[in-house]
Amino acid sequence: MSQTPGKFITVEGGEGAGKSSNIAFIRKYLEEQGIDVIYTREPGGTPLGEEIRDLLLGHKHDGMSDETELLLMFAARAQHLHQVILPALRQGQWVLCDRFTDASFAYQGGGRGVAWEKIENLQTWLQGDLRPDLTLLLDLSVEVGMDRASKRSTPDRFESEALSFFEKVRDAYLRIAKEQPERVKIVDAGQSLETVQHQIKSILQHYLTNTN
Ligand code: TMP
Repeated sequence: MSQTPGKFITVEGGEGAGKSSNIAFIRKYLEEQGIDVIYTREPGGTPLGEEIRDLLLGHKHDGMSDETELLLMFAARAQHLHQVILPALRQGQWVLCDRFTDASFAYQGGGRGVAWEKIENLQTWLQGDLRPDLTLLLDLSVEVGMDRASKRSTPDRFESEALSFFEKVRDAYLRIAKEQPERVKIVDAGQSLETVQHQIKSILQHYLTNTN
């Protein structure tokens, strides 16, 4: 829980799950409810974080170790929390974030095999009790997701991974959702955009009803 006047909403999912268009939908929906919401993303969200993002996603450092990758994710996150997320939440703004620490568990923990407790330690160190209030997990079969993603631009360092990597990422996300069903809501992203947005809208309606 954010325990601040503002609420913290995150969106997660594998490649090709339609995050961008669904985030735009969520943002518009929240604004229509009169909520003051800012949109941001990880890795990134600050000038320093965006530079770290370039290091993480580019191919210049293909030999990057799993630990370096994890620590760079958290380095970007530390700056993001300090400069953007916490000040906004404290002022009563809602924060809509494209990926957050669940992605570190899914990609670095599940995908790369870094020990779960190491990620939990970083989470506790840098976030204290702060957790998203609501997380929408856009879930989709890896084959369909990769097929959709491959139709976009040149694959980044993560998109270049094998299908088996993304199966592990998906399993880790589903494990988190199973362990934290109050916070993490699964959206079946394999449906048409209209059906996906219908699911998202009912999750948000339910959340708003129970928050106010
Ligand atoms: P995207 O935001 O465009 O999906 O790209 C970000 C990539 O970074 C995506 O492949 C997931 C990955 N990622 C991690 O591996 N760990 C993290 O903690 C975060 C935030 C993202």
